[in-house]
Amino acid sequence: KDPRLARISSSIRVIPDFPKKGVLFQDITTLLLDTEAFKDTIDLFVERYKGKGISVVAGIEARGFIFGPPIALAIGAKFVPLRKPNKLPGEVISEEYSLEYGKDVMEMHVGAVQEGERALVIDDLIATGGTLCAAIRLLERVGAHVVECACVIELPELKGRERLGDNPLFILVSG
Ligand code: PRP
Ligand code: HPA
Repeated sequence: KDPRLARISSSIRVIPDFPKKGVLFQDITTLLLDTEAFKDTIDLFVERYKGKGISVVAGIEARGFIFGPPIALAIGAKFVPLRKPNKLPGEVISEEYSLEYGKDVMEMHVGAVQEGERALVIDDLIATGGTLCAAIRLLERVGAHVVECACVIELPELKGRERLGDNPLFILVSG
């Protein structure tokens, strides 16, 4: 196990009852305040994905927008934002996905990713896995190959990994 993971883990603040009672919220804003933990987080992803022929890093709104761009720059890939509905100004494709209560929609710009491209999906955290599944569907609809999904944190009790099926998932720490 990489010695950098302990510091990353302890830099993540856990806030009880946010955004509602009973939820233990994993807050990555405190990881961002720890310059060593933040750098180590990016470095661990870059070490894993450099030289793997990845041309697209797709980051999920909102916290995939924090970790995705530095990884994309370091591995020489483009960054593509996957956004909540009605945020992207150009033509989009959309995927619905289920939340704990209700549904949401994720959108990607048409033309951002070409058929045959190798993509990495980045987010801060996997809970039920519904969000990452929607991201995979968007990328596969345009003919991209999703090499892996990567998150800083996994909440293993929510079994999101099972929902991803055969799609590889890489995580740094458990919440
Ligand atoms: C959180 C988190 C992931 C998603 C994981 O974002 O940042 O994107 O939930 O949940 P899942 O694995 O059960 O789908 P949230 O939907 O709260 O949106 P936000 O980033 O805009 O706050
Ligand atoms: N932190 C951030 N996003 C989340 C969490 C969490 O603990 N649970 C579900 N989405």
